Amino acid sequence: MLKWTKNEVVYQLYPQSFYDTNGDGIGDIEGITTKLDYLKSLGVGAIWICPMYDSPNRDNGYDVRNYDKLQICYGTDEQFDEMVAEAHKRNIKIIMDLVLNHTSNENPWFLQSSSSRTNDKADWYIWRDGKPDGTPPTNWGAIFGGSAWTYCQQRNQYYLHTFSPYQPDLNWQCDELKNALFAMVNRWIDRGVDGFRLDAINFIAKDLSPIVDGEINVGEYADIYPFVANKPDAHKYLAELKAATFARGCLTVGEASSATVSDALLFANELDMIFQFEHVAMDIAEDWNVKPVDIVKLKKSFAKWQNGLFGRAWNALFWENHDQPRIVTRMGDENELRESSAKMLATCMYFMQGTPFIYQGQELGMINTRFYSKNEIRDIEVRNAWTKYVDGGLLSEKEFLKRISRRSRDTARTPMCWSDGKNAGFTDGTPWIKINDKYKQINVAEQSSRSDSVLNYYKALFALRAKLSVVVDGAFKLIDEQNAHVIAYERKNVEQTIAVVCNMTAQRLSFIDERLQRGKILLTNIENNYLADGILAPYQSIVIDLES
Ligand code: GLC
Ligand code: CA
Repeated sequence: MLKWTKNEVVYQLYPQSFYDTNGDGIGDIEGITTKLDYLKSLGVGAIWICPMYDSPNRDNGYDVRNYDKLQICYGTDEQFDEMVAEAHKRNIKIIMDLVLNHTSNENPWFLQSSSSRTNDKADWYIWRDGKPDGTPPTNWGAIFGGSAWTYCQQRNQYYLHTFSPYQPDLNWQCDELKNALFAMVNRWIDRGVDGFRLDAINFIAKDLSPIVDGEINVGEYADIYPFVANKPDAHKYLAELKAATFARGCLTVGEASSATVSDALLFANELDMIFQFEHVAMDIAEDWNVKPVDIVKLKKSFAKWQNGLFGRAWNALFWENHDQPRIVTRMGDENELRESSAKMLATCMYFMQGTPFIYQGQELGMINTRFYSKNEIRDIEVRNAWTKYVDGGLLSEKEFLKRISRRSRDTARTPMCWSDGKNAGFTDGTPWIKINDKYKQINVAEQSSRSDSVLNYYKALFALRAKLSVVVDGAFKLIDEQNAHVIAYERKNVEQTIAVVCNMTAQRLSFIDERLQRGKILLTNIENNYLADGILAPYQSIVIDLES
């Protein structure tokens, strides 16, 4: 196993959309191996690959049918082992996605569990009787829509699913189930995997007491989070998982939506870090709408997490992933100022304390893919929402498509744009999902050939970051906290103090601070006279060394 360091950059890969080598329109393992040198040149120390296990793909692989088998379209076991070996040769570690909260409803474990109330795996999932009136045990709503309970004829019972009915939740109270999971994780470690991203891991323990008192059962669907998210027993289970598996030396990052700073401090006992989502939830409005981000609120959130975990836990730094729209679309400019805004957003995020995660295409300043008809949509969450909003007459087709082109998960799941050639150089065949309309302008080939591209800025940023110990261990402090247009902060350790200044707007702004202006510029996305005149160009960002 390779050794981890604290300033390593992790690149997240969506395998079906990364690079297709056999023309079936779906990215594959061979495609990852082929592009390892590209990832190396970016300064990446590890790759996190979204699930590649055998799956009916109801939720793009987050519904695992067989944990020990690779999905056929991705490639063979030999190709997987070769990818791991080639990555290790380049000092790139492999982080697999582990989906331990639920399986597919086609997983043989579930097929057996659902066959009767008395079989060997009867308790591997969460089964409950319905209420006397024939309705589900509680009125909890599933995250992807509808009830969180689905009826099973064979058992005359309901099973719990936090996400969709195709994703039944596993019962972590059952020792045999836990042991089967632990053994499976160890088999992947034996195969050379270096770490894991733990999907929806804060959901593994449930509070089922409302089934008894019944009080929650009035009205339509109730919020499921209070009953399944961040429950104390999750930490008990994770400690067991860690002792049985990760303690062998793996890097672990848990996905923990709605986790607070105190939850994160608890998870730090079991995992290296968690993904929390406060900073990427600020533009989300009702009914698939978006609203502007309040910059003061955003930077206060940064400060809360930076200071709350300082010296006690470790942050995972990210703007994008396969569940999030593109950050340039959300907070930057999609047109003339696209590149400046993409570079500024990178600077704003990645000089904080924590492990940087970037999602494929982010290094190009990619923008959201737009969707113009129902048959372009792939995501289960959006397809369900279509039924509710469009079929249900709540929104016109046009309005719904406009909203999901801003907010849906498919916006960032479309193929990586490698060139301006056919299908953006992603595949010779027919891509499984549409290609981003902007691929002729935004692609790897074009950006590699130009020194001032977003891609080359990311390289420079990561190279600088790797040289500065203050980024790893310096204390964090906001500068001009109430300023609603600029996010500025300093990082300070015994050796050095640096300041990061980011103009979050498309306007020129004055940001005068003598201390900053006496410093030396380490990195900027726009060359100008900031040190002399205190004027920030639109979306300008500057990293300043304050003590030299
Ligand atoms: C996580 C994944 C998401 C998936 C869900 C259910 O949030 O990131 O893509 O749909 O879990 O597994
Ligand atoms: Ca393929």
